[in-house]
Amino acid sequence: MVSHRDVIAKNRDAWNASADHHRRSAAWGQLIDAVAHKDFSCLDSTLTEQLEQVGVTGKAVIQLGCNNGREALSLFALGALEVVGVDQSSEFLKQAHELAEISPYSPDFIEADIHELPASLNDRFDVALITIGVLNWMPNLALFFSHVARTLKPGGTLVIYETHPFLEMLDPEASDPWRISTSYFLTEPLVETGAIVYEGKAEPNGLQSYWHLHPLSDVLMSITGAGLSLRAFDEYPHSNREEVYDVYEQGAAQIPMCYTLVAEKR
Ligand SMILES: C[S@@+](CC[C@H](N)C(=O)[O-])C[C@H]1O[C@@H](n2cnc3c(N)ncnc32)[C@H](O)[C@@H]1O
Repeated sequence: MVSHRDVIAKNRDAWNASADHHRRSAAWGQLIDAVAHKDFSCLDSTLTEQLEQVGVTGKAVIQLGCNNGREALSLFALGALEVVGVDQSSEFLKQAHELAEISPYSPDFIEADIHELPASLNDRFDVALITIGVLNWMPNLALFFSHVARTLKPGGTLVIYETHPFLEMLDPEASDPWRISTSYFLTEPLVETGAIVYEGKAEPNGLQSYWHLHPLSDVLMSITGAGLSLRAFDEYPHSNREEVYDVYEQGAAQIPMCYTLVAEKR
């Protein structure tokens, strides 16, 4: 079995090796143009409404797992005063710095493993944000959330907008995408090979990355175990993942595809 430390290092290498693929995408070209505008936001209506309810105007916000910084930059359009993005991929943070150069705003970006955040981030933020496609890369949710919680001031708020773990049981590209093919309770991570891409097929690159299936109960218990109190939790039948998952929006029965969660530091 691979140790947590190795999993984190291998995931970092796999994300770094995928950065160039993302830079060559049409989405990157569109971002370069879009981030120059003061009101740039790539956040969808669900997350925008959630952040408006929590209130980020005039606040210090940290995004954990910020990737190329596009969502961190979007927080300024909602009125955030200070934004810090954290990610362990130096290659994606280079892209984040490039976008920030074009943007009228000045976020900070910090390269760190979220299981081991620097103490300089402790007790500094009003809002901590985690979005789509972050939690499954984390081998140790309890440790992860203990570090996330430390970044918040007392009374500060954690906002999560993630993909629903129910989806991990299904394969949208299978001949029957509705057939349950993976156990909800799988404890071993799924080992992916090749570049990490949002659309299309991964290019083989000899690297492995580790995707962990965390049941909702583990997510909730890790959050409360980190000293955060649950304030709101909602599940939605729309997809916030790769396009292939849209097939589940069109079924006769609706399934939970994503969720928002709000928790407060006591
Ligand atoms: C799917 S991306 C997040 C994308 C973001 N929601 C967006 O739309 O731009 C997941 C990010 O988590 C980062 N990541 C994975 N494991 C990490 C860790 N242990 N510490 C810090 N960042 C990590 C990866 O480098 C990657 O940039």
